[in-house]
Amino acid sequence: MSSKMSAEKEGDRLCFFINGRKVTENNADPETTLLSFLREKLRLTGTKYGCGGGGCGACTVMVSRLQPATKTITHYSANACLLPLCQLHGAAVTTVEGIGSTKTRIHPVQERIAKAHGSQCGFCTPGMVMSMYALLRNKPQPTMEDITQALAGNLCRCTGYRPIVDGCRTFCQEANCCQANGGGECCLNGGQNTDEPEHEEPQLFDKEEFLPLDPTQELIFPPELILMAEAANPKTLTFRGERMSWVSPASLEELVQLKTRNPKAPLVMGNTNIGPDMKFKGILHPLIISPTRVTELFEVTQMPQGVWVGAGCSLTEVRSLLEKLVPQFPEEETELFRALSRQLGNLGSQQIRNVASLGGNIMSAYPNSDLNPVLAAGNSKVSVLCDGGRRELPLNRDFFVSFGKTIVKPEEIVVSVFIPFSRQGEFVGAFRQAPRKESSFSTVTTGMRVFFSEGSRVVQDVSIYYGGMGPTTVSATKTCAAIVTRPWDDETLSRAYDVLLDELVLPPSAPGGKVEFRRSLTLSLLFKFYLEVLQKLRERNVITDELPEKMQIRPLPREIQLSLQEFQHVSKDQSDQDPVGRPIMHRSALGHATGEAVYCDDIPATGGELFLALVTSSRAHAKITGLDVSEALRLPGVVDVVTAKDIPGQKARTIFGYEEELLAETEVSCVGQMLCAVLADTRAHARRGAAAVKVGYEDLPDPVFTSEDAVEKSSFFEPRRTIERGNVTRAFETVDQVHEGEFRMGGQEHFYMETQSMLVVPVGEETEFDAYVSTQWPTLTQDAIAETLSIPSNRVTCHVKRVGGAFGGKVTKTVILACITSVAAWKTNRAVRCVLERGEDMLITGARHPVLGKYKVGFMNDGRIVAADIQCYANAGNTVDESPLVAEKILLHFDNAYDIPNLRGHAAACRTNLPSNTAFRGFGVPQGLAVVENMVDDVAALLRRPADQIREINMYKGPSVTHYKFEFSPENMLRCWEECKVKSDYDARRGAVHQFNQQNRWKKRGMSIIPIKFGIAFSEGFLNQAAALVHIYKDGSVLVAHGGAEIGQGLHTKMQQVASRELQIPPSKIYISETSTSTVPNTCPSAASFGTDANGMAVKDACQTLYQRLEPIRQKHPKGSWESWVQHAFLERISLSATGFYRGPDLYMDWDKMEGQPYAYFTFGVCCSEVELDCLTGDYRTVRTDIVMDIGRSVNPSVDIGQIEGAFMQGLGLYTMEELKFSPSGLLYTRGPSQYKIPAVCDVPLRFNVYLLPDSHNPHAIYSSKGIGEPVLFLGSSVFFAIKDAVAAARSESGLAGPFSLDSPATPERACLACASPFTQKIPAGKPGSFTPWALNI
Ligand SMILES: Cc1cc2nc3c(=O)[nH]c(=O)nc-3n(C[C@H](O)[C@H](O)[C@H](O)COP(=O)(O)OP(=O)(O)OC[C@H]3O[C@@H](n4cnc5c(N)ncnc54)[C@H](O)[C@@H]3O)c2cc1C
Ligand code: FES
Ligand code: FES
Repeated sequence: MSSKMSAEKEGDRLCFFINGRKVTENNADPETTLLSFLREKLRLTGTKYGCGGGGCGACTVMVSRLQPATKTITHYSANACLLPLCQLHGAAVTTVEGIGSTKTRIHPVQERIAKAHGSQCGFCTPGMVMSMYALLRNKPQPTMEDITQALAGNLCRCTGYRPIVDGCRTFCQEANCCQANGGGECCLNGGQNTDEPEHEEPQLFDKEEFLPLDPTQELIFPPELILMAEAANPKTLTFRGERMSWVSPASLEELVQLKTRNPKAPLVMGNTNIGPDMKFKGILHPLIISPTRVTELFEVTQMPQGVWVGAGCSLTEVRSLLEKLVPQFPEEETELFRALSRQLGNLGSQQIRNVASLGGNIMSAYPNSDLNPVLAAGNSKVSVLCDGGRRELPLNRDFFVSFGKTIVKPEEIVVSVFIPFSRQGEFVGAFRQAPRKESSFSTVTTGMRVFFSEGSRVVQDVSIYYGGMGPTTVSATKTCAAIVTRPWDDETLSRAYDVLLDELVLPPSAPGGKVEFRRSLTLSLLFKFYLEVLQKLRERNVITDELPEKMQIRPLPREIQLSLQEFQHVSKDQSDQDPVGRPIMHRSALGHATGEAVYCDDIPATGGELFLALVTSSRAHAKITGLDVSEALRLPGVVDVVTAKDIPGQKARTIFGYEEELLAETEVSCVGQMLCAVLADTRAHARRGAAAVKVGYEDLPDPVFTSEDAVEKSSFFEPRRTIERGNVTRAFETVDQVHEGEFRMGGQEHFYMETQSMLVVPVGEETEFDAYVSTQWPTLTQDAIAETLSIPSNRVTCHVKRVGGAFGGKVTKTVILACITSVAAWKTNRAVRCVLERGEDMLITGARHPVLGKYKVGFMNDGRIVAADIQCYANAGNTVDESPLVAEKILLHFDNAYDIPNLRGHAAACRTNLPSNTAFRGFGVPQGLAVVENMVDDVAALLRRPADQIREINMYKGPSVTHYKFEFSPENMLRCWEECKVKSDYDARRGAVHQFNQQNRWKKRGMSIIPIKFGIAFSEGFLNQAAALVHIYKDGSVLVAHGGAEIGQGLHTKMQQVASRELQIPPSKIYISETSTSTVPNTCPSAASFGTDANGMAVKDACQTLYQRLEPIRQKHPKGSWESWVQHAFLERISLSATGFYRGPDLYMDWDKMEGQPYAYFTFGVCCSEVELDCLTGDYRTVRTDIVMDIGRSVNPSVDIGQIEGAFMQGLGLYTMEELKFSPSGLLYTRGPSQYKIPAVCDVPLRFNVYLLPDSHNPHAIYSSKGIGEPVLFLGSSVFFAIKDAVAAARSESGLAGPFSLDSPATPERACLACASPFTQKIPAGKPGSFTPWALNI
């Protein structure tokens, strides 16, 4: 059938079920995904958009199907963003709304994640819930391993995962188990774990109150679908959309005919390759063939030599099949089965494996496919069919032709894949190394097979394949030739490494970069295989020589254990009703877990609403020579285009005297700069319109990208600052040793799970606008919209219900987007919605500033640091934004915990042609302090002393003064230090680490303990203010409004607690609806860890006013109830509405005098982390983390511990994983979760203990608490320094001592290369300057 013919045919009716309800679609568009159908058509907005490419899990749903072959019903989790609607014919979909609701009954999964404090901003929560729900449908009592596997593909940017895992853990059989696998003996084995939490200690939640899981309560599979599946004579189904058609044949014969007639039409199975290609690369397939109903593609046939597996089987099915077969056969026959199963366990996420097919993986022919190298090494073959008949093709080096291409002809279909049994004397290995342990494509992946002559170590046959080493899966044929006929020993292998090095060469500018690392991995993974096979030969008594214990290779530990969260009881005198100081659940937690919580893009569309899509620059520095929108305007659905000329008011925002254009008019200064916006009736139309806009450029010379470039060309944003105490120059002359070093810190993408979202609605008269914006600063948004539209601020109301994560990224950048959206709403007089795609968001909105640090340090041989001169260059990008303030904050924290008598700092914001960077949790401190702590580490290395001793020697002690002459007491910081050493058992574990390192050549452990002293509040004094408005209604219910935005930090929950204490009523009577500029005007940003301090005082003030107004009534009616007092007050004409205000401290910094009081107080903390590092691959695992924080008296320990854990994990990401990569022409490569890895559940420290320092008081903030949002992020660097410690141990094996350079993030690549193993040392480094690297080193 040609596509023309299919277009002529009437489309069929699509029929499936959602949450037990039948859905029929007469005109199902093949381009529609389940996600957009749920959100836009059915208004089931609980399922979220986070990335659109299967990489974040926010859109997870459960799909149930009757399997035609087995007649069983399967339930599996899947990413709704990749599921084509047309694929769902005959399926039952369950979304978060379908499993429970606050109106009826919440599901135990929803309850437990919520009550265990597993949600903060809540945007990831429905996805988490659904992954866990799908697991429980298949296994009501899962193991911890099942849970971590199920959640591996669900990203959370807020919580640090520990509470989510703890909530889910309550479903485990071993829920009460201590899970000890390191320290004490596991309680299940009759042992006693000494770290088991003591029950008299306060707990964050009480699992006794949880609803039991009752599987009989779940939705059943719709009988109608069973009948449909069993109906005789299934027919071909055709669905036709605006641009493409979808045909689903019912038989193999028909499939073959279809493919013969339409060889170019892809076969869509899981859509995990075709879907992202269409979405992100704009590839359009006019016809898609969906063979999911062809039963032959799912058949499994066992043969004497192996098993034929249907190409349509999902990767999950293949894995379960292999796992089922393994115990049924002798071990020696299942080598390939086990290797494949191991590889499958780490391939993608559960959601991906549940839908991705075996045939699809093979035929996608990814260069770094995890399966192809193993299948090829294992002598697998495929059976292909076309009109001309069937043939078998070996999966060997000739099978993979080029990127994404195989020798299978376009008209052929892979029907099944043969996976052979292994023979006696045959061994198969599979290894992979990826930027993140789970849910990540490999950097290098390999399959290896060796076959020995009977009873000997002489190699009869060998095959080695790699992925990630070129455009296809590659065979190391020459290396194999160097091994075959030789004994499997050191001599053979060392020759093989040399051949391999020559055979698999990557050019220094190879796509994907990491050239040295990838080459070294080919060697070290072969070495791993060598050792593994030696061990097996030994077990089978083929060889007798023992491998020294130290040389053995064992996997990194992975079992997550129970962690401790220690906080203080409230005082015995505190009333039971008073919630302050108690671990109260986030007030929206149940809304998050049920999907009922409304985010900006969940607001229903109003009639005539338009969607806005942006056109951005593809050049880093160029004149705009033309902007042709004519083609875009001709496209279906496109209504208008907004350019700078349409802006009625201010076209630019001015900060520090620099102008930032909303839309570029004549010149662009970075890739991703916004040029114009296309408005259309749907998202898809707007995006197609944006893609059709043609922009002419004339490149301008010499773009500046790196900080070095900027320094050389003196390209800075002013002001640049310097600070000095003592006399640094003179002090250098008096010290025993002087050392100079450099440290580079990469930037960090905010990766809030909810991308930038806004909706601007013209109210219809007097140029009034309602702006619903996901922002941390509603007032700034209001003011900026007013200036842009040239109207007074009183015509703009900015509403913020909740924000799905912000971390500093939803202040200035959001404002610009909101201004553009408001121009569109003003111009068209229609509501306009703008929700950025993940890739656009990452491209346009900037990130944390990368920093280049240089230092000179003078110290005494006893460890005292006497002088330091530190310079930090922050890469600000193309506009000033808040960069000079970031640089200032870096300078103000240069001393961290150390009393360095002569300290000079210089910080500058570099102006470059990269997208403009902005605020990010910590505001420069995490970058600046990493430079400082690296300097301290160098001193320790030079003195050959443990770094903690150098830290301790140099700490502030007694009454102290900072380098900007601010007096403070470091007492609580020193208490945190001592407490952390005790709690983490630091000294004993240091000894154990040393011993471990003595006993292991290829794995090393490392430990570090790091302090933080973090200044709280805004150093610009005027921002330290807040206001609140509290209404008491006649029925006694209370509505609180304040200036802070709920961004996941639990601010509204804490404000509810404050109001509850002050009014002496239960929190259930208090409601917080939204943050709005019409209720509380002139607010400050929810930032600088100051939200609770400021807004808490304002709410307290308003509530106290009301409480006092009610006092006479209470006196008159002492036995009355709250409701009766309110009634009386109303009747007596007492105002039941009050405002509250907080005038914060007068903070300032005088840069000329180099002194000031820029902070209200300090939050202190100390963190100790231990890691285990695989020196051959750079892979690591945080074995344990202990954090002691001084946060005064916590207003809400569960919220605060959540902030601590979440910030730590974000820091762990910053310092060890997250890498922004730019092309040599300034284009951000890393524009989604596939390329940019944030920590996932596999990165949580195996033991993650948090202790709040007892007996701490803070007179400067509400109820003696302290701000905690930002400080802990820096403590993630403890993992970085632990890795560095482990690397140092590895280097000492190679005879290397003293300071060495390890930049941040310490990715597996950097850690592995720094280990200087015999393998990395074999790789010749590319000569700088002789080639253009794939990515810039910004
Ligand atoms: C987020 C994410 C993470 C991933 N992580 C990994 C990873 O870690 N390791 C890894 O190896 N892969 C990974 N993948 C890739 C994934 O495994 C493949 O995309 C998947 O296996 C392809 O199968 P599919 O059924 O979805 O293919 P589809 O997208 O449906 O089809 C892909 C291609 O295969 C062809 N095709 C499919 N079936 C047949 C057949 N029977 N005969 C002939 N041609 C056929 C189609 O014509 C099409 O060209 C990841 C993918 C995503 C989206
Ligand atoms: S939105 Fe589907 S996985 Fe991210
Ligand atoms: S709570 Fe998980 S992303 Fe915010």
